[in-house]
Amino acid sequence: MSEAKPDYMHAGWPEVQVTNRLAVVTGGARGIGRAIVEAMIRERYRVVALDYSIGDDALAFAREVNEKAAIFKATALSFDKLDVTDSSAVQASIDKLVAEHGRLDVLVNNAGITRDGLLLRMSEADWDAVLTTNLKGVFNMTKAAIKPMMSQKHGKIINIASVVGITGNAGQANYSASKAGVIGFTKSIAKEIASRGITVNAVAPGFIETDMTAKLNEAQRAAMLAQVPMKRVGTPTDVARAVGFLASEAADYITGQVIVVDGGMTM
Ligand code: NAI
Repeated sequence: MSEAKPDYMHAGWPEVQVTNRLAVVTGGARGIGRAIVEAMIRERYRVVALDYSIGDDALAFAREVNEKAAIFKATALSFDKLDVTDSSAVQASIDKLVAEHGRLDVLVNNAGITRDGLLLRMSEADWDAVLTTNLKGVFNMTKAAIKPMMSQKHGKIINIASVVGITGNAGQANYSASKAGVIGFTKSIAKEIASRGITVNAVAPGFIETDMTAKLNEAQRAAMLAQVPMKRVGTPTDVARAVGFLASEAADYITGQVIVVDGGMTM
């Protein structure tokens, strides 16, 4: 049904010489996060991907990238285990990375979960799990990351929101609220730290083909697709390219914005 474009890896992995600039990507082990990791390396960042679940395929991917993208025997991509909801573990992880790399240039807050259900049937646990991961996780990571970025007087923070944070969606009150929260957070922090040389933006994907959306049944998929003027599901690469742009010098004068990547779904 979808005419998904090939992911970067399938299109071939070119030799890229990464610089010493560091990008940290949460939820980087699979899906959109994995494609964002690739986009960061193409922008010549060294990447540390933080995830609470790192599969063998993610480690194999890191080996493949490091064969092609390593420089001066340094590692271009590494995975570290981290739960973004654990504020003290987040602080320790950022402290360790800054001690090791001496800098932190980009933070991409991508880790996210869904626990869908109509409000009447939504449990408090499902509300808390989604808000804690999707919104408090962004707070934890951003709070820890802005300190080194402020001392550098330079940094880029990119938050992965969702179109449902703008439009709302029946059956996703917890998820939509968390993503609307991410958008409000993005704009507030952008205002707080713009004068420190740090930009803060969000990318709001529409319907993207990943494990998260694989849970949808055929009828739900068809209903979603019917709302997409471009008549195809988005790929993780579609989202990652927008993130790559925001992480590049081309976006140096852009802050507090939300870039919607949805094939025209919400225009
Ligand atoms: P996914 O479920 O395929 O991958 C999410 C990744 O985040 C996984 O590797 C998971 O282990 C990690 N993760 C989850 N909770 C974590 C935690 N507490 N600490 C550390 N890592 C954690 O999801 P997908 O589709 O790649 O989504 C990525 C982001 O894009 C999420 O924020 C999601 O809300 C957002 N998004 C996805 C859309 C889609 O259609 N797939 C649409 C709009 C937004």
